[in-house]
Amino acid sequence: MNSILIIDDESAIRNVLGDILRDEGYQIYAASDGLEGLGFLRRHPIDVVFLDVWLPGKGGIDVLVEIKANWPEIEVIIISGHATVETAVKAIKLGAYDYLEKPLDLGRVVTLARNSIQLEILKRENAALRKDKFLEDKMIGNTEGMQKIREVIAQSAPSDSRVMILGENGTGKELVARMIHSKSNRSSCPFVEVNCAAIPENLIESELFGHEKGSFTNAVARRRGKFELADGGTLFFDEVADMTLEAQAKMLRAIQEMTFERVGGEEKLHVDVRIISATNRDISREIEAGKFREDLYFRLNVIPLSVPPLRDRQEDLPVLIDYFHEKLRNDNDIPTLKFTDEAMKLLMEYSWPGNIRELKNFIERVTILVDESEVTEEMARYYLGERKAKSSKTSLYHEYEGMKLSEAKEFFEKQMVERSLKENGFNIAKTAQSMGIYPSNLYGKIRKYRIEIRK
Ligand SMILES: Nc1ncnc2c1ncn2[C@@H]1O[C@H](COP(=O)(O)OP(=O)(O)OP(=O)(O)O)[C@@H](O)[C@H]1O
Ligand SMILES: [Mg+2]
Repeated sequence: MNSILIIDDESAIRNVLGDILRDEGYQIYAASDGLEGLGFLRRHPIDVVFLDVWLPGKGGIDVLVEIKANWPEIEVIIISGHATVETAVKAIKLGAYDYLEKPLDLGRVVTLARNSIQLEILKRENAALRKDKFLEDKMIGNTEGMQKIREVIAQSAPSDSRVMILGENGTGKELVARMIHSKSNRSSCPFVEVNCAAIPENLIESELFGHEKGSFTNAVARRRGKFELADGGTLFFDEVADMTLEAQAKMLRAIQEMTFERVGGEEKLHVDVRIISATNRDISREIEAGKFREDLYFRLNVIPLSVPPLRDRQEDLPVLIDYFHEKLRNDNDIPTLKFTDEAMKLLMEYSWPGNIRELKNFIERVTILVDESEVTEEMARYYLGERKAKSSKTSLYHEYEGMKLSEAKEFFEKQMVERSLKENGFNIAKTAQSMGIYPSNLYGKIRKYRIEIRK
């Protein structure tokens, strides 16, 4: 049964409200002043509070602020006399759900109670989901690299410092961001993610800052942006290096001042958010190439955190394998997973280009699809996916192991130019033609890689 607390010094109001709401099937409690009400909330779970704004002793507004600070999910409906409508409006800005004027309109009392309880339930469910999502994956691994990350998370979480998380695909950047949030004192407020790579250019402002109704063709209703949604909590800019320069400029302004307007709005909004960002790109290269603003980088990168690729912490493989497998087993009668020594060796030598995400998918596939008691090297190779299994064996891949894509490309390019030059007797025109590029372009590469021309 949902429960409602009425805080009002007038016994007549307490009784009338109590009777109506009891008839609607709610469990009703009452308190005659703010302190008594707050004391009650400390001991009992309550869904909705009806709060008189004009209370003796501790005033209604102060009580509201305290409720919202301690139990943000509880919805508060303000009861106000005509003279205090202004106060009621202020209360809504402070997080009250709505207000009732005296004399009480009984129909409205019932609707407000019903709607606010629905909202309250939604909020609790969301909070639970958020928690689940976080609990979904613990951070596994004991290698030095992982311990270092845990340390930085523990040190940086309680502060409001901005953290920039770097790392390849699937290394766990988002997991790290969520852990920082959950260990911070913002953990009861939202963790809001912005996937910077996925927002269309023309919608970025509306996405970040929200918009007013009618501000553009599709703005049928007022919408709150990610900054507003994250108020009090953490805003996670994922794939931050994928933003256009124009979007970067807008973001820079917003995070410098923490103030912005909704699209089509005049009101200046101020929020309190902690910013975490992540990218799998080589950000210093992006800056050099003029694709990422250096000033924005300095704003975001107060505490840098690099998540190492799985191939640099292979000792963590066995614990990770056990962990992902156990998660799938829970109470099903799935047998324990055993790899032959050869299979394990293959996994340890594999370069895991998709990192932990790839490992997780691999373990899921093997757990679900393999019936045998042991996974052989052949089976492991098969489930790793033909292409990847092959490339892990060929020397070509090993040559590039540990390189960033850009480095690998240059490495390859230099080798190709050297080889073609040799094959064509160091004749520039011929070499350029065989490579399908202009001679001037070839000269550029020769200079760039300082290749010696032997005639
Ligand atoms: N150390 C870890 N222990 C257990 N699970 C992990 C660990 N690191 C990552 N994972 C899990 O692996 C998956 C991929 O992680 P996540 O999404 O955080 O990576 P990412 O770096 O953000 O990837 P992308 O670059 O593709 O966005 C998630 O399911 C995550 O929970
Ligand atoms: Mg991610």
